[in-house]
Amino acid sequence: MASNDMNGKVALVTGSTGGIGMETARGLAKRGASVIVVGLDHQQARQAAHDIRGSAGHDRVDALAADVTGLDGLQRLASEVAGRYDTLDVLVNNVGMNLPDRALTTDGVEKMFAAHVLAPFTLTHLLLPLLERAPAARVVNLTGGIPGGPIEHDNLLGERRFIGWTFTHYNHTKTMTMAMTLRLAEKLRGSGVTANVVYPGHGYTPMNRSTPIRAFPILYRPIAPLVLKVVAPLFLSDLTRSARSSVYAASSPEPEGVTGAYFDDKCRRKPWPASALDPANQAAVWDLCVRLSAGTLQTTGLRGDG
Ligand SMILES: NC(=O)c1ccc[n+]([C@@H]2O[C@H](COP(=O)([O-])OP(=O)(O)OC[C@H]3O[C@@H](n4cnc5c(N)ncnc54)[C@H](OP(=O)(O)O)[C@@H]3O)[C@@H](O)[C@H]2O)c1
Repeated sequence: MASNDMNGKVALVTGSTGGIGMETARGLAKRGASVIVVGLDHQQARQAAHDIRGSAGHDRVDALAADVTGLDGLQRLASEVAGRYDTLDVLVNNVGMNLPDRALTTDGVEKMFAAHVLAPFTLTHLLLPLLERAPAARVVNLTGGIPGGPIEHDNLLGERRFIGWTFTHYNHTKTMTMAMTLRLAEKLRGSGVTANVVYPGHGYTPMNRSTPIRAFPILYRPIAPLVLKVVAPLFLSDLTRSARSSVYAASSPEPEGVTGAYFDDKCRRKPWPASALDPANQAAVWDLCVRLSAGTLQTTGLRGDG
């Protein structure tokens, strides 16, 4: 039985109509938080909110729809949240996708960079006034795959290479999430808002079910079908386990005040990969986010140069 340590707090989880995000939203609601469920589709978001209310023991579960890969969608989402809530205690930037081919958003941004890096950057900036009004707000960003490879300055948007023998742009963008979050944590220091990264561990989710084999690095492809079709359904279906690190970073008293930290799937603090710590990499990723979001973020004090 979860404790009620989140009573009176408001938490927004993106991509919470299914998979790990939905279990994260449920975990936070069970701890007493008012939760904002966000998915692509209104009907699915309402359905997920209804489901979560059933297990949370309270009715404070809201449903919103937005495509977080688009700057317009992020802006609309932030306005709707600001219209309904005065403060925000938790923002979990959970949306993720593993695409086999390079695709662009309506803004012309590579889609996985948009989902994993630009969306957390932009949504945090847009919701900062609400986060700063909370006594100790927490931003939680998710890494995944095998993060920690090099951050390629001439390939931030997957324009030079996308999938190779060991390289995938999915892993590349998840390493960039880490670099961006480290810089964000530094910029937020003193504001009362913390920013951390969690690794959720593998879960058999809609994302995994729909990931084609060619989205994996070439070396991994021979064993990928076994993992996706046999191991994952048999051993990775308990998504409360996959949501544990997000729920921990968002709500546990232990990491209260901790910022710029990286927690693994067992909620243990882990060292950052060298590529995420590299100031030149952080600056490259941060500056690109600043440039891409320039038309959307005019007024916030955090953006600055890398
Ligand atoms: N699953 C794993 O094994 C694993 C391992 C490591 C890290 N991760 C990371 O954990 C996070 C969650 O992964 P998951 O496997 O639970 O993903 P998932 O199953 O694909 O999650 C689905 C959720 O994301 C929403 N969504 C998808 N695209 C969206 C968009 N453009 N805008 C708004 N919402 C969108 C979906 O909404 P609709 O239902 O409306 O489509 C749904 O709520 C990701 O960041 C992923 O990279 C996952």
